[in-house]
Amino acid sequence: MSELLRIENISKRFGDFYANRNISLTVERGEIHTLLGENGAGKSTLMNILIGLYQPTDGRIFLNGREVRIESPSQAVSNGIGMVHQHFMLVDAMTVFENIILGDRRASGIFVDRDARRKEILEIADRYGFNVDLDKQITEISVGEQQRVEILKALYRGAELLILDEPTAALTDIEVQGLFEVMHKLVGEGKSIIFISHKMREVLEISDRITILRAGEAVATVEKNEVDGKKLAALMIGRELADSVYEKHEKEGSPLVALNHVSYHKESKHNGLNGVTLSIRPGEIVGIAGVDGNGQTQLAQLMTGVIAPEEGDVDLKGAKVGTFDPLAFIQNGVAHVPEDRNLQGLVSDMSIADNIVLKSTEKPKFSYGKGLFLKKGSISDYAKKMVDHYDIRCQSVDQDVRSLSGGNQQKVILARELESEPDVLIVAHPTRGLDIGATRFVRDQMIAARDRGVGILLISADFDEILEMSDRIYVIFEGQIMGEYSGINPPIDEISLAMTGK
Ligand SMILES: Nc1ncnc2c1ncn2[C@@H]1O[C@H](COP(=O)(O)OP(=O)(O)OP(=O)(O)O)[C@@H](O)[C@H]1O
Ligand SMILES: [Mg+2]
Repeated sequence: MSELLRIENISKRFGDFYANRNISLTVERGEIHTLLGENGAGKSTLMNILIGLYQPTDGRIFLNGREVRIESPSQAVSNGIGMVHQHFMLVDAMTVFENIILGDRRASGIFVDRDARRKEILEIADRYGFNVDLDKQITEISVGEQQRVEILKALYRGAELLILDEPTAALTDIEVQGLFEVMHKLVGEGKSIIFISHKMREVLEISDRITILRAGEAVATVEKNEVDGKKLAALMIGRELADSVYEKHEKEGSPLVALNHVSYHKESKHNGLNGVTLSIRPGEIVGIAGVDGNGQTQLAQLMTGVIAPEEGDVDLKGAKVGTFDPLAFIQNGVAHVPEDRNLQGLVSDMSIADNIVLKSTEKPKFSYGKGLFLKKGSISDYAKKMVDHYDIRCQSVDQDVRSLSGGNQQKVILARELESEPDVLIVAHPTRGLDIGATRFVRDQMIAARDRGVGILLISADFDEILEMSDRIYVIFEGQIMGEYSGINPPIDEISLAMTGK
């Protein structure tokens, strides 16, 4: 193997905070090099330096032994570096084809040979086994497909080094295996990949070497074969994480929420809901097992008042819901951790403190006259307490939420919703993008809420998470409930099969 990339003593400072400090590492040709580290450890920052979005405060970058300055993303591209970001950057209103050629100099101007470009793109897609329809709008394709488009775009621009920042966070297991096949093919051809993931199993499966970042510093680089999950976790968080097993309960009693033969079909692109009947009792976690896109989104929207059923009805705390309105649901004690934190969960150019009290500014604790005059001091004190409790890594509670790392943004939503003293909690993918320590913490908090009597609906694409946490499990497939199971010793094979509609 020969060295493709070498970074030496890279530091990046924001104000007087070091997001990266003195980081050195190398990436070989044909290598999959993983970056592992807690939320806020500095992984994305380092990658944003390589892609020319940030300038390092200090340090040097070498490509093929030659020192380079990467002052813009287009310079990164001409140096053969491509990146698929933690949050995709595709333009929704355009087609797949338009997105791929966007910003490509050869394709700009009046005389674009679209046919030649198409042919070139299709050849690359074919080589890596991507099945893409170039004429679809971005809004029409799944998250997994969007990701392939991002990768295709990077390859089309001639990437020799591909950076994948948490590419698997929103993928199903099958999609992950598909992505891994592509990654193997790429490194087989001598390309290099920097891979970021919080999922230990994946890291141990796909990596050649792993560099562990802790609080902005590279603490070790190890060969995959030298380590196991426990050792990596210890390197990452500086202590060992004990195993945990949650106790399950079977609850009796009248439900907090009940859906009775509910159907919803409005959106044609996704599965709607077909005659769904289910309930959540106080003090239980009800897991929804299923492959993403089988009606989970509509289920969560329905149970938080965003959409109204076309048929059937919903009971909340024993009364039939008349008007479906998110505000009314919030006031009725329904909290919601949404599936898309950027679109629904956070106001990204507001501060951490304001996001944490977003839904409770009318409470006497935080304002006089129901939100008329805010008690800035109390809000700030409360936010600091939450930052502490949820270990949100930031410099100050007045910082914009957008400047937080991905996982820490997720913690802001969790702090707000879990601590709002709800009766019902509708949670979608609560630990997506969280590191292993934070994942454990959030699961503990959910169990604690359950034990206080909160009724929780847990939607998760992570089947292990459903099995670990749920007292009761429903399987959803194409908008229908395929079965109901106890969470105590659940029949795993039977459930997996039901998830595929069998
Ligand atoms: N523009 C910015 N201004 C101020 N602080 C920033 C900025 N960008 C990043 N940070 C801080 O730098 C630290 C590292 O963030 P980074 O996004 O690199 O973490 P990460 O390792 O990718 O975490 P995650 O696993 O949650 O994605 C965080 O504490 C973050 O708040
Ligand atoms: Mg990140």
